[in-house]
Amino acid sequence: MARLGIRVLGDPVLREETRLVTEVTPELQQLIDDMIETMHAAKGVGLAAPQVGRTERLAVVEVDGAAHVLINPEIVEREGSIKWEEGCLSIPDIYGDVTRSARVVVRAMGRDGQTVEIEGTELLGVCMQHEIDHLHGKLFIDHLSFLKRTKVLAQWEKEKAKYPGLVRTIFDDEDDDPAHDDERM
Ligand code: NI
Repeated sequence: MARLGIRVLGDPVLREETRLVTEVTPELQQLIDDMIETMHAAKGVGLAAPQVGRTERLAVVEVDGAAHVLINPEIVEREGSIKWEEGCLSIPDIYGDVTRSARVVVRAMGRDGQTVEIEGTELLGVCMQHEIDHLHGKLFIDHLSFLKRTKVLAQWEKEKAKYPGLVRTIFDDEDDDPAHDDERM
């Protein structure tokens, strides 16, 4: 397994539409394993392929010790509304409240190519919606009010100097703020 570099806000890959996966190959399974390792190292709860510079429609999430692989995920049911403070591994140290559906059912293929349906509320539901957004070039900051987004983008202008080439390397001693443990996705 290998830890992958995470692309940060400004890299055009984060705004690209992904392409449907037609076959789960050993190479794709290797990418899945590398993404899970990268998500763990970055102390995240979710990671989507564009965040590691890839265009496959693929994301991984892990909430309460349960990991899910989402290949070609689609939301097939949604209800209610929930507000959650979100952050993104591609926009480090920036957080904001986002309103999403309170409960979703996601249909996807798993690592073995079998179709599964995953129901999620709270963090799992929020995280799956955040990752599916990534697969369509959308970021959590797009959900913020104009005023809040303007503020966040100004903050990011200073932050992004830390990431030469718009790539974030995840180090062993990554010491992200534990107050945001359920928010990095
Ligand atoms: Ni994200």
